[in-house]
Amino acid sequence: MSKNNALKIQGCSLKVPKNKAENLHSPVLLAETVKLLNPQTGEIFVDATLGLGGHTEAILSVSDKIRVFGIDQDREAIELAKKRLERFGERIKIFHANFSGIKQILADAESKKVDGVLADLGVSSLQFDSEIRGFSFRFDAPLDMRMNADSDTETAAELLESLSEEEIADIIYQYGEERFSRRIARRIVWKRGIGEAVKTTGELAELVEKAIGRGKGKNKTHPATKTFQALRIAVNNELEILEQFIRDSVEILKKDGRLVLITFHSLEDRIVKQTLQKLAGKCFCPPRMPQCVCGTTKEIEILTKKPIVASEKELEENPRARSAKLRACRKLN
Ligand SMILES: C[S@@+](CC[C@H](N)C(=O)[O-])C[C@H]1O[C@@H](n2cnc3c(N)ncnc32)[C@H](O)[C@@H]1O
Repeated sequence: MSKNNALKIQGCSLKVPKNKAENLHSPVLLAETVKLLNPQTGEIFVDATLGLGGHTEAILSVSDKIRVFGIDQDREAIELAKKRLERFGERIKIFHANFSGIKQILADAESKKVDGVLADLGVSSLQFDSEIRGFSFRFDAPLDMRMNADSDTETAAELLESLSEEEIADIIYQYGEERFSRRIARRIVWKRGIGEAVKTTGELAELVEKAIGRGKGKNKTHPATKTFQALRIAVNNELEILEQFIRDSVEILKKDGRLVLITFHSLEDRIVKQTLQKLAGKCFCPPRMPQCVCGTTKEIEILTKKPIVASEKELEENPRARSAKLRACRKLN
């Protein structure tokens, strides 16, 4: 977010009032997102990860005839976004849901096709900076990590209590790309065995540090960073639902509708990239296959040959945009 609190989008200057939601999360790649979504008068969009409403606010501000359906699974974020977006009245409809249900949500809203879908994936600063929700080792809190705190799915602490050593190691390896995953899993299960199951962020951070050491060098990241990422992805089932969500989003787009996807780590970006390639007609059959059996058809045109990343200026103002990658496509017939 620019320091003077105003954004230049498509030639118009958008005044963003200082309110609570705006101060809690800076929308990444905002101008680039709006440019690629290219909102026009009369169009309808889905913001599948409404969060604090920063991207939606910019979309709605382009014209007073644009409507947005906002989805988020975090009730706390929704309450803040509602206040921020109050002035847009009926033009914004908000749903507390997982975006895996995007088709049903749209059907319930009696609007089957839309002109654009945005997903700015991952956690918001509201979640990451919370002292009580367990996303970060910067605060000692119960090891929860559920983006939807109302759901009855397992928390990170419950996962670490119920899974086998091998399953914990696999999660840390696959979702955190942590090469010491087995060492960490062994220690978690050993602690459990002596009646000291890991229940807080502080306990997990300390355990990982003891298992793999502190790391060397000036710019070293905390040794528990990858383990925390892995657990968060597992708790929220982030990767499993992604490909189907992209396919559903393309399905609900009108012809020439735009889909913009922003990711924050390589595992997510790989799924986005490969799913878009498949939808753009790329064959993924093994090289020696005599003929294509993967049955791809060309449903979209990819609009970003390479992912768009944050400019130096944006990084100066919002270092959290550092790992953001934006990919976009346009629906064909
Ligand atoms: C990076 S933030 C989005 C920030 C938003 N673009 C803004 O400008 O404020 C990601 C949001 O997506 C939500 N989210 C992540 N995965 C979700 C899912 N599967 N279904 C619904 N919401 C999800 C999170 O709760 C979080 O609020």
